[in-house]
Amino acid sequence: MKKKLIKDTTEHFEKQFQHQPEALFLSPGRINIIGEHVDYNDGFVLPAAINKYICFAVSTNETGACMLIAKDLNDTYKFHINDTLVPVDKMWVNYILGVLDQLKSKGFPKKGFNIVFSSTIPMGAGLSSSAALECGFGYAMNKLFDLDLSKEDIAKIGQHSEHTFVGVKCGIMDQFATVFGKKKKVIRLDCTTLEYDYHNADFKNYSLLLLDSHVKHTHLTSGYNVRRKEVEEGMVFIKSTFPKVNSFRDCTEEQLLSIKDTLGPILYKRCHFVVSEIQRVLDAVQALEASDYQKLGQLMNATHDGLSEDYEVSCPELDFLVATVRKEPNVIGARMMGGGFGGCSINLVEKGTEKELISKVTEAYRSAFGIELSAYRIKISKGTAEFKNKLN
Ligand code: GLA
Repeated sequence: MKKKLIKDTTEHFEKQFQHQPEALFLSPGRINIIGEHVDYNDGFVLPAAINKYICFAVSTNETGACMLIAKDLNDTYKFHINDTLVPVDKMWVNYILGVLDQLKSKGFPKKGFNIVFSSTIPMGAGLSSSAALECGFGYAMNKLFDLDLSKEDIAKIGQHSEHTFVGVKCGIMDQFATVFGKKKKVIRLDCTTLEYDYHNADFKNYSLLLLDSHVKHTHLTSGYNVRRKEVEEGMVFIKSTFPKVNSFRDCTEEQLLSIKDTLGPILYKRCHFVVSEIQRVLDAVQALEASDYQKLGQLMNATHDGLSEDYEVSCPELDFLVATVRKEPNVIGARMMGGGFGGCSINLVEKGTEKELISKVTEAYRSAFGIELSAYRIKISKGTAEFKNKLN
């Protein structure tokens, strides 16, 4: 699939521009084992890059003309490098322009470029195709124009693009995972300091299976930003009662409980989810290190319940998928993944039983919602990189 993606992207580039691309780049999607909606709440997360990618074929030119071609969308966007950049009405373009705008404000790049990109990351499935796009583009510019940006810079520029040109006040998890991904490793990221370490993504007798609800997370933008506001509001109350608490990381469940009435039911639920999720990630890292997969699965289950009931970012389809697989003894953990309001669930499934599980859930999902499920068996892969090898 990766080979075909690279081949198709390259051929499309050659057809459009009658020459070979100067360079090729691959930027992956991501999963998250646990730690949802805590990246913007001073928590820890446990994501990993996966073997689904956006491939970029790129070349530079001396004219200052820039052309972006989204092969899969059959869409093109042209501009001049000296143009003032503002958000446009094509969302896919904004991810890129938001990155370029920041590069330009740092004084580069000065030249033009042509880009063709194509993807195997399903869009709107909660696998961060947007972070792959932002960071893949940033990475390519960095390489081609020797911009001397660090990986951390590229991740932060991607995140900022989403804030300014796309309008989602996202955390840093997706961009960080895309750029820092490593084969067979999950990343434990401290979202306050951006310190990170890698842990073996070895689930022994279990495998990770994604089930795509095909509910596109169109409410994500508004829902996400509202959640951010709610927890910020909650934090103001918490800090005013407990001056020693600087962030959700320092806050205990007991403290929250003691100001439940002040917070009111909504803010209490939101803050309760955040405080308990931060602890769950730390417990999950320990479980992973101890190869205690049952424990890891239980934590994942608890995360789903929190996301669904306290944080209220799930949807009936995802709740159904999770409830259905939980009836199966071969599934030891299941939860919705990512920002929510649609997208995929992530499941820890006994190896060898995936096929049977997929056909059972597909059937049940079809009769409940009339939607055809997609299942992805993913591998944990390396982060954004230049592709230098010959294909054959
Ligand atoms: C989206 C955001 C991330 C993160 C997740 C939820 O994917 O882009 O920053 O907040 O939702 O964990």
